[in-house]
Amino acid sequence: MKGLVLSGGKGTRLRPITYTSAKQLVPVANKPVLFRAIDALREAGIDEIGIVVGDTAAEIRNAVGDGRRWNAKITYIPQEAPLGLAHAVKISRDFIGDDKFALFLGDNCIEGGVNNLISDFASSDRNAQIVLKKVANPQQYGVAELHPDGTIERLTEKPRQPRSDLALVGIYMFDQHIWEAVEAIKPSWRGELEITDAIQWLVEHGYRVYPYIHEGWWIDTGKRADMLDANRLILEELTPYVAGFVDRDSQLVGKVTIEKGAEIINSVIRGPAIIGEDTRIINSYIGPFTSIYHHCVVEESEVEHSIVLENSEIVRIPHRLEDSLIGRNVKIHTSPMKPRAYRLMLGDNSEVGLL
Ligand code: TTP
Repeated sequence: MKGLVLSGGKGTRLRPITYTSAKQLVPVANKPVLFRAIDALREAGIDEIGIVVGDTAAEIRNAVGDGRRWNAKITYIPQEAPLGLAHAVKISRDFIGDDKFALFLGDNCIEGGVNNLISDFASSDRNAQIVLKKVANPQQYGVAELHPDGTIERLTEKPRQPRSDLALVGIYMFDQHIWEAVEAIKPSWRGELEITDAIQWLVEHGYRVYPYIHEGWWIDTGKRADMLDANRLILEELTPYVAGFVDRDSQLVGKVTIEKGAEIINSVIRGPAIIGEDTRIINSYIGPFTSIYHHCVVEESEVEHSIVLENSEIVRIPHRLEDSLIGRNVKIHTSPMKPRAYRLMLGDNSEVGLL
């Protein structure tokens, strides 16, 4: 089987981070979400992986490279515009050929990996396999209605009045019949070729589409709150280690990972938390569910339940920073300048919550 990871898209829900970088490269527990998708495919034994890329192609290529790090062969498939998940599949036909394949949305995280799902599908005569998860807000997803015997009755993309609470998780498996489906369907009201419509086409044409109900957690990291949720769940699963320096005046409590070259000086880190390579935490408190990426500085400040991207500095802030997603090269500090005032330089669509 081959793997196909979708890493194009618009990323409008994660602006302003996505003005300058790909949302699939936002680190969750200090590893980009996209890398977690590639890990999951590799763990399931898939070593030929296509990545569909859009405007952020150069950044994705730069981060992933040729796949040597995963012992995998990576092929990049440029998509001229984000014309839908089924469009991204359609343009990948030359790469996939007649093989069976697993399709993974590059911004989704799932508990427990996909090994069983993929091996079940590889050895079955199913034409497609989908993963469903009970959610509280099905109107935001593709939704599946099942017959009493558990087979699929109907799939609908973002229904206004959902008739089921089973959402389609961003992991799918197909055989070559998907090519007929993606050729046959038409763009939806939002102008996209919907993968939900392609699967519905398979169901209507008598192909065997097997629904698998996922009991663990699954997160589509499209928004800040989802990123923070994924970060929390993955941090809880991490096996902690200390590869950096922790001075005698500091305290690590619970599951705390300190990566290579990091320095913790006179600070308290209460896990689950991870401090990235060459990051310095000085006279500070880092609270649970926080991931600070590499080459950051936190000094005389408190940070909790947050993700901080690389090269950022948080220095002498008077209140605890919580529930925050801080981009790259960001500087947050108090200023001695008079008059006392907030002096901000924020990108479009930034969000700041002041006390
Ligand atoms: P979405 O999160 O559904 O779409 P988006 O990335 O455009 O985000 P937003 O709704 O915030 O504007 O996409 C799911 C994944 O699939 C994501 O990793 C981007 C990718 N994708 C493509 O590669 N091509 C596409 O045409 C679309 C729509 C998404």
